[in-house]
Amino acid sequence: MKTLVVEHPLIAAKVTELRDETTPMARFQELATELVTLLAFEATKELEIESTEVKTPVSPTTGSKLAGPLPLLVPILRAGLGMLHGMQQVLPSAEVGFLGVVRNEETLQPAIYADRMPDRLDNRIVFVLDPMLATGGSLISAIEIMLARGAKKVIAITLISAPQGVEAVGKKFANQNVTVVTSALDEKLNEHGYIVPGLGDAGDRLFGAC
Ligand code: PRP
Ligand code: URA
Repeated sequence: MKTLVVEHPLIAAKVTELRDETTPMARFQELATELVTLLAFEATKELEIESTEVKTPVSPTTGSKLAGPLPLLVPILRAGLGMLHGMQQVLPSAEVGFLGVVRNEETLQPAIYADRMPDRLDNRIVFVLDPMLATGGSLISAIEIMLARGAKKVIAITLISAPQGVEAVGKKFANQNVTVVTSALDEKLNEHGYIVPGLGDAGDRLFGAC
């Protein structure tokens, strides 16, 4: 398992705006989209390409296209949906599966309530999208399913991560082809399992406290 904390001035400034409790919902959604497109630059750099012929107005030339099979994007419902549009902008050919995971706010244990992913993921790279990696329970349960279905590699893109979550995922998938790409590694979790300083409840900030 590898962890990559992406350092870039644009990312740092956008994460700060995302954290700000006065940032309204519409701007929060925009920031999540913008951040995932920036993180995608790092997260997708090991995608395989193959050569293809193209004719410019001036001459034929050899270029590149993504090699198959198509990558799969999996936003973790519900907060991960806030990262889907940005990822689709940079990887429009990717297919999309959905996994619903909610953590019990008292026990902090994850429960899977929706699974609309292919039964088999052999040879496929899966990009898991979830803004928050706190205890790691939700991400671990998602990655377990993807590896059990044969995924070749799982790349989780998160906006804010806690050290405890990164450690838990690292321990669980120590020798597996799993990478976490994140825009911020925060200080700690509080007694309620929230990331400190974090940004609060990502799902509520994206979609409202319904
Ligand atoms: C949030 C977040 C992660 C999870 C992280 O989802 O989007 O999925 O918590 O916590 P963990 O690392 O301790 O498991 P939540 O369960 O609040 O559901 P939501 O996306 O529907 O709001
Ligand atoms: N889920 C969130 O939305 N925020 C946190 O800080 C932790 C888990």
